[in-house]
Amino acid sequence: MSTPHTQDITGFLHSQRNKETLRFITCGSVDDGKSTLIGRLLYESKSIFDDQLEALASDSRQYGTQGEKMDLALLVDGLQAEREQGITIDVAYRFFATDRRRYIVADTPGHEQYTRNMATGASTAELAVILIDARKGVLTQTRRHSRIVAMMGIRQVVLAVNKMDLVGFDEAVFNTIVADYRSFAAGFEFAGIQAIPVSGLDGDNVLQPSAHTPWYSGPSLLAHLDTVDLSAARARGAFRMPLQWVNRPNLDFRGFCGRVAEGAVRPGDAVRVLPSGVQTRVKAVIDGFGEVDSAHAGDAITLTLADEVDVSRGDVLVAADAAPEVADQFEAKLLWMSGHALTPGRQYLMKLACKEVTATVTGIKYREDVNTGAHLAARTLGLNEIATVNLSTSAPLVFEPYGVNRALGSFILIDKLTFETAGAGMIDFALRRASNIHWQALEIDKASRAAQKHQAPRCVWFTGLSGSGKSTIANLLEKRLHAEGRHTYVLDGDNVRHGLNRDLGFIEADRVENIRRVAEVARLMVDAGLIVLVSFISPFRTERRMARDLFAAGEFIEVFIDTPLEVCEQRDVKGLYAKARRGELKNFTGIDSIYEAPETPEIRLQPAKDSAQACVELVWRTLR
Ligand code: ADX
Repeated sequence: MSTPHTQDITGFLHSQRNKETLRFITCGSVDDGKSTLIGRLLYESKSIFDDQLEALASDSRQYGTQGEKMDLALLVDGLQAEREQGITIDVAYRFFATDRRRYIVADTPGHEQYTRNMATGASTAELAVILIDARKGVLTQTRRHSRIVAMMGIRQVVLAVNKMDLVGFDEAVFNTIVADYRSFAAGFEFAGIQAIPVSGLDGDNVLQPSAHTPWYSGPSLLAHLDTVDLSAARARGAFRMPLQWVNRPNLDFRGFCGRVAEGAVRPGDAVRVLPSGVQTRVKAVIDGFGEVDSAHAGDAITLTLADEVDVSRGDVLVAADAAPEVADQFEAKLLWMSGHALTPGRQYLMKLACKEVTATVTGIKYREDVNTGAHLAARTLGLNEIATVNLSTSAPLVFEPYGVNRALGSFILIDKLTFETAGAGMIDFALRRASNIHWQALEIDKASRAAQKHQAPRCVWFTGLSGSGKSTIANLLEKRLHAEGRHTYVLDGDNVRHGLNRDLGFIEADRVENIRRVAEVARLMVDAGLIVLVSFISPFRTERRMARDLFAAGEFIEVFIDTPLEVCEQRDVKGLYAKARRGELKNFTGIDSIYEAPETPEIRLQPAKDSAQACVELVWRTLR
C-alpha cells in the first residue's frame, strides 16, 4: 500500500485510475462500533494522511475513550458531532484504497430516525457491511437495515460480528449469531453472505487474520472486500442515458447532456428517443475534454445527433434495438420516509431519473413487517415503513424494473406543498391496467356548450369547517344565478356522500378520495358548460390544489368560508360537534382531524361578521 506523498504523483494517480471501485455501505445500530471499524479500515489501509494522524493522536489524548490507544472513532464521528449540534445529517462518504481496489464507504447514523439516510447510502452501494454487536446479536434494527439493503438491490453482504474481544472470541457466540442471521435472511436474494468475527477496536480480522480466532478460516474484512466477485451485479445492459439538459450555446450546436446510466455509446450508434420513439444516430460523443470514441455507464457526456429530433429534459436516449418499456401504472416497493403518512389517492411529485411527473398511490397491496417480512394489510404508511404499492402517473415514464436497472427503476416521491422527499421507491413491473384507453375527441366542446348557455363555465369551490355556512351561501348563490337564467349545479358534501361517495368515511385517505371524485365530477360539469358550486369541507391543501389543477386558469374560484371554530361549534346545527366532544364521533374536522385553511383563496368570506346576502354578493360580483 502506498500513500500519495511517498511516490511521484503522476504515477500514483495513474495506478489509482486503473483500479476498480467498490462502493459499500456500513449499517449498524447505535454504539455497535461502526465508527471505530471504519476508522480502523482507513487506518489500516493507510488512507490517513500524516497530519490527520498527528491530529488524531492529540485528539485521542484529549477526547478519546480508549486510554492510551488511539480512538479511531474520532476519525469518522463527524456525523455524531453534526447530530449533537442538530445539523442536518445526510450521508458521509469516506474514501480509501488498497493495491487492488478503491473504496467509497457510505457512513450513515444508526438511529432509527435516520433510516432515510441509510436508504440513500444503500441506493448506490454494491455491498453492505452489516455490523452486529457480538453481545447483542441480531436486533430489529439489523433486520430493518437488511430488508432495506435487499430491497435496494444489494446482493453482497458482509456480516461483521464486532466486539468479539468482549465475548472472549467465543466461537459458539459467533456461530449462533450467524445461524440466526442466515435463517432470517434466507428469503432475500443475497448472492453471498460472508460472516466475519472482528474487533474494530483492536483490529482483529480487519486487515490481518487474528490469532484470537483460530477457529475462523475465512478471509479478513479487507481481504474479502478486495476479492469479492462483483461481476454478476456489473453485467452491462444496453445503452441508456436520461437527458439532463439540452445545450444550445448557438444555432449550430445542439448537445444532449446526461450521465450514461447503463451500457456504452459510440459515434454512429443507432439510438431512440423515448417516450416519443423517434430514431436517429449518434454523431459525436463528447466528454469533459473533447470528442471520444466511446462512453460507458457512469460517464457524464454530451451527445450530438445526426438528425434534428425533438428531445427535452427527462427524455431517455436508448439503444435503438433494445428499448425499455414506457408505462404509467406500476407495481413498486416503497420505503416511506416522512412523518406525514402516505395516503393513497393523494398526489405527489415523482422523480425518476431526470423526469418529474405527478403520481398517486392507487392502492397499498401490503406492508411488510420489518422483523418477519409478513404481509400486513395497511390503509396508510408511516415513517420507515415498507410496502408494495400500485402507482399511477400523470404521464408515461421510461423505466426498467429496479432489478434490471437501478437508474431507471428507482424513484422518489416528493410532497407537493413542502417539497420534502417523502418516499423512495423501486419499480417491480408495469401494470397493464388502463392501457389501450385513448382520449376520445368529441366535436362539440366546452366552448360550444358554454356559448349555447351564454355563460362562462366556472367551478366555485367553497371550503370551510362543518357548520361554517358553506351550504347556506352556495344555496343562496345558486338561487340568484338561477334567477338570472344561468345554468348551475351544487355539489354538496352531505349529498354526494349519500350516493357516489357513500363508501367513504372520514379518515384521511377517505377524505382524499372524496375530494378526488368530487373534483373530477366538477370538472366534467364545467366541461358541460355549467357553473358548479362545490360545497365540501375539503380540509387538506394538497387536495384543493389537486382540484384547482384540473381546471383552466381562471375557471377555479376558491372561496374560504372563514368562520371561527368556536362559532361553528356554538351553532352546531347537526349536533355533531357535541357528539365529537363526547368522543362519540371520531376524526371530526376541527376537533381531532386537521383543517388546513387556504393561504391564498380567491375570496375569503366571514359569515360570522357579514350577512349571508353580503357574502353572496361578493362571490356573485367576482363571477361577473
Ligand atoms: S370532507 O372533509 O371529506 O370534505 P365532506 O364535506 O364530504 O367532508 O362532508 C362533511 C359533512 O359530513 C359534514 O358537514 C358533516 O355533516 C358530516 N360528517 C360526519 N362525520 C364527520 C366528521 N368526522 N368530520 C367532518 N364531517 C363529518
